[in-house]
Amino acid sequence: MEALETVTYAGTKKNVVESGMVADTPAVAAPQKDGEPWKVTVVLEFPRDTDPFLKSTVKAAEAAIKYYCARNEEGGTSNDVEVEIKTEFKSAPRPEVGQMLPGVKNIIAVSSGKGGVGKSTVSANLAIALARLGYKVGLLDTDIFGPSMPKMFDVEDERPYAVKKDGRDLIVPIEKYGVKLLSIGFFVSPTTATLWRGGMATSALKQLIADADWGELDYFILDTPPGTSDIHLTLLQTLPITGAVIVSTPQQVALADARKGIDMYRNDKVNVPILGLIENMAWFTPAELPENKYYIFGKEGCKQLAEEMQVPLLAQIPLVQSICDNGDAGTPAALSSETATGLAFINLAQSVVTVVNRRNKEKPATKIVGMNK
Ligand SMILES: Nc1ncnc2c1ncn2[C@@H]1O[C@H](COP(=O)(O)OP(=O)(O)OP(=O)(O)O)[C@@H](O)[C@H]1O
Ligand SMILES: [Mg+2]
Repeated sequence: MEALETVTYAGTKKNVVESGMVADTPAVAAPQKDGEPWKVTVVLEFPRDTDPFLKSTVKAAEAAIKYYCARNEEGGTSNDVEVEIKTEFKSAPRPEVGQMLPGVKNIIAVSSGKGGVGKSTVSANLAIALARLGYKVGLLDTDIFGPSMPKMFDVEDERPYAVKKDGRDLIVPIEKYGVKLLSIGFFVSPTTATLWRGGMATSALKQLIADADWGELDYFILDTPPGTSDIHLTLLQTLPITGAVIVSTPQQVALADARKGIDMYRNDKVNVPILGLIENMAWFTPAELPENKYYIFGKEGCKQLAEEMQVPLLAQIPLVQSICDNGDAGTPAALSSETATGLAFINLAQSVVTVVNRRNKEKPATKIVGMNK
């Protein structure tokens, strides 16, 4: 126990004894024959099997006991003692891939090739519009390095709490505008997250999916980062995505990237159906001249791409100052059915419901991408 008092558990920043992790009094067995080592068995209890400090704590405990024994015996060496550290967990294990969200009916990834074309704006408004149509909706901000949802929902200061369910501690999503919401933005400052390695981002994302109490959902919307990244791969390896909607502006460079996004989902190892395209910033309409349309990023580029790729064009959303202002103010346009932009998002939600129903009738459920492919 004295040796274990020198081992810090990074989860509490206290030693493992103080942290209450030493499950039983360590067992110490003397050697049966000369030359054999002493045997020390310790049981350490961690909060859960996915504890990020598990391996390092076990190694440190082993080293500390060996060092302690060698130091306290004259002429002793660390080989005089054999240490076995057993691990136990307070929390039941996380469900296997494929069984993570049993109450979720449809999972929709909102994607684009290019950054800044309006994925997060579309995700927030689509989620709110679906909730206003009476569906149970969850929204996960998977943009670990640039989360936008806390601001768009005006819940930047909220901190989700945890509940105990079936022996596991689960994060409770924040509920606003009828939507259950989680984002890494609730847990870390953006400057910290940008320093993360890929593995840390992946593990945080998995926690937001599998260690959260999403419950029953008709639609689970995933706002994804730009491009085709590690995050996308993790999503494809973790969840059976019902379909993807691709957001693009009508501009040629955005369309070229949208094509790459479509190709990723259509790859024969991925096979996630494309539910349709959304043309965002389709034209600019000044508030004082509502009849005027200015095609500043080009005209109907997404319509042409949709025809070429044989996917539906689900909506054309104009570039309107209020969409940007509403996003920044945390009151997305879809909250109102009285404005043209609010209606555009409600119509989009209705189109999404139609294409998802058709997809579910015509195609088998998506298979999760295997780890080695
Ligand atoms: N139709 C629109 N009219 C006006 N402003 C818009 C519209 N769509 C998006 N915006 C604004 O454009 C900016 C980028 O949008 P958004 O953050 O939704 O894009 P994104 O594709 O999620 O970006 P990223 O790739 O960085 O995640 C935001 O400031 C948003 O408010
Ligand atoms: Mg975004």
